[in-house]
Amino acid sequence: MRMILLGAPGSGKGTQGEKLAATLGIPRISTGDALRATVKSDTELGRRARAAMDAGDLVADELVVGIVEERLAQADAHEGFILDGFPRNTAQAKILDGLLLKNGSPPVEIALHLQVDDEEIIGRLLARARQQGRADDREDVIRCRIRVYGEETCPLLDYYATQGKLLLVSGVGPVDGIFQRIVDALAKAVRGTASHGARAVSG
Ligand code: AP5
Repeated sequence: MRMILLGAPGSGKGTQGEKLAATLGIPRISTGDALRATVKSDTELGRRARAAMDAGDLVADELVVGIVEERLAQADAHEGFILDGFPRNTAQAKILDGLLLKNGSPPVEIALHLQVDDEEIIGRLLARARQQGRADDREDVIRCRIRVYGEETCPLLDYYATQGKLLLVSGVGPVDGIFQRIVDALAKAVRGTASHGARAVSG
């Protein structure tokens, strides 16, 4: 399965992506994790990425695309992947479509949107700030990340809905309950494709 996880910061993409990757036996590819590793490397690229991430802005497309292109070329991603945090704007979505085409890979099949309201998100990320101290989990930066998500990433919901690939799942409640909702929604979507040639759009 070739799948994208969409959702605001703190909506649970990483948490659910890990569980899905273990269940489906395909890699979870997180551009946020990859960028944090780049930042630690203290290179020019790392410094550029850090400035954007600390401000809650998106890192430049060309930097992120290079990371994704390299990772998708690895053997474990050939049979499927879960992209967490990429694409994050329409330009990246179009680049991803082109990359898969160029690699002779089937296209993205599912874009799963975890729906969580802003107050819940802020509470989760402030709790993580207290436990882990991630640099971008400050309240002012969290609010900026939420705004950037609304402006840059939300248009992707239409992009994938138009293609019949969007699955909507509530990301509120216990982690295991959300995971079960995702599994049920995916099963329904796959059945829908097999029997009608169309994609279910809610779960
Ligand atoms: P990224 O690392 O992708 O961060 P994010 O999208 O802001 O998401 P988070 O990791 O904060 O949250 P999540 O949705 O994964 O939720 P999680 O499971 O961790 O990106 C960071 C930055 O990198 C961006 O701001 C940008 O600068 C840059 N970047 C990344 N990709 C880019 C791209 N493609 N283009 C340009 N720039 C890019 O959960 C969050 C917390 O909530 C955790 O503490 C977790 O334990 C908790 N939690 C999870 N589920 C629940 C639940 N059900 N109930 C209660 N708590 C929960």
